[in-house]
Amino acid sequence: MDIRQATIDDLIGMQNANLLNLPENYTFKYYLYHALTWPELSYVAVDPRGRIVGYILAKMEDEPSPNTEPSGHVTSISVLRPYRRLGLANKLMKQSQEAMVAHYKASHITLHVRKSNRAAISLYRDTLGFEVHAMEKGYYADGEDAYGMRYLFNKKS
Ligand code: ACO
Repeated sequence: MDIRQATIDDLIGMQNANLLNLPENYTFKYYLYHALTWPELSYVAVDPRGRIVGYILAKMEDEPSPNTEPSGHVTSISVLRPYRRLGLANKLMKQSQEAMVAHYKASHITLHVRKSNRAAISLYRDTLGFEVHAMEKGYYADGEDAYGMRYLFNKKS
């Protein structure tokens, strides 16, 4: 499986994967916004025939205040079911994180995850070293709570 930076041509495949994998869906315009504004931050995993089997859709904080450090954000990540537990999500996250630091000097990265999403929480916390920094009650449209998770790129600072 190849991991590469997402292009505009990949956005429909990313949107299809998102629709298959998650209840949190976005307009095509929102995918386009990510790709045009932060083209270095979103990645796809493709099979040998070039089909998208996983993606990460990521961005920087839209409206940073002057006193805060640049912050990356994962809008969505998912991998098609037959391709899970192969390390793809881990690799997609790492590629995007590296780009956040290299291109935007990100000091940290944030994301939201459903309280019940054990697979994703394990990926973020146990594999990637994220920490829960907030619990947001009723964050999702169906009323489920979210964990706000955060990873500091330079934990010493
Ligand atoms: N149960 C427990 N731990 C898991 C699981 C699982 N089902 N899946 C992954 N992990 C953890 C493990 O620690 C794993 O390491 P290991 O395989 O060596 O034990 C580690 O995460 C890395 O796993 P990957 O193989 O890189 O993860 P994968 O490619 O399977 O993708 C993902 C994980 C994205 C959560 C996938 O299960 C998925 O697409 N789920 C549906 C969509 C989803 O929930 N996306 C996240 C929503 S939150 C957001 O988008 C910000």
